[in-house]
Amino acid sequence: MKSDAQPANRTPTHESLDAGVIMESRGLKKTYGRGSQNVSVLTDANLILRKGEMVAVVAPSGAGKSTLLHLLAALDTPTSGTVYFDSKAIETSDDEGLAEFRNRAVGFLWQRHQLLPDFTAAENVAMPLLVRGEKFTSALEKARKWLAEVGLEDRADHRAGELSGGEQQRVAIARALVTGPSVLLADEPTGDLDEQNAWAMFELLERLHRVHQLTSLIATHNLALAARCDRILGLEHGVLRSREAAAIAGGFPGGEAS
Ligand SMILES: Nc1ncnc2c1ncn2[C@@H]1O[C@H](COP(=O)(O)OP(=O)(O)OP(=O)(O)O)[C@@H](O)[C@H]1O
Ligand SMILES: [Mg+2]
Repeated sequence: MKSDAQPANRTPTHESLDAGVIMESRGLKKTYGRGSQNVSVLTDANLILRKGEMVAVVAPSGAGKSTLLHLLAALDTPTSGTVYFDSKAIETSDDEGLAEFRNRAVGFLWQRHQLLPDFTAAENVAMPLLVRGEKFTSALEKARKWLAEVGLEDRADHRAGELSGGEQQRVAIARALVTGPSVLLADEPTGDLDEQNAWAMFELLERLHRVHQLTSLIATHNLALAARCDRILGLEHGVLRSREAAAIAGGFPGGEAS
């Protein structure tokens, strides 16, 4: 298992880019609230994602998995610390650069898929393309192609609210990937599914990861699925640690440096 250990003062360089690092976080800290109501979720989260890896983040509910993924996708801002994409600190991007990063570099699969129930599956998938100014016809065409990729060609014109939970999740995967991102951040993609559908969903993610040469970071509670990833990270007391599957199954023992 590869290590995530990094020297404390490390900053990304062309060297890390050459070594295949696509995304990196350094000293990420996130505290919610103010004064005595403070909730300190991430204290020092350091992560290196190399191109082509599929990495699982496994941690108990409330440990900060969603918080971490939101920060990596620039959907929220850290209290301190930095996220780098292709060796560039995303915080240094202007509004346009950030919008570009969110829309093109990263595909985000929400924990609760957040589809628009009254729009069709195809319209939901087309939404990120429409947001970036693509013509409706072309966006719809791409959306249909992606729905076919996730096995939902025949549901393209159904309203999202009429689809089953598993189908809605597949629509959400198509929506996350329709813009052609290089990194997929998936927040508990199998969370609401029964065992059989969870496996099918994970196999779909594995196939898309491989075919589209993605780099994927997947937050999950499912240890069996996590064990199929290239690496597993635990999130304990606001810090990411490398974990063997067996250690995870044993209940997140602390104290090991990454
Ligand atoms: N916007 C917010 N304001 C205040 N506290 C928040 C906010 N978002 C999350 N938290 C708190 O941060 C902690 C981590 O939440 P987060 O959603 O990241 O956990 P998680 O690991 O994704 O949990 P789950 O497995 O249940 O999805 C929780 O204690 C949560 O209550
Ligand atoms: Mg979560």
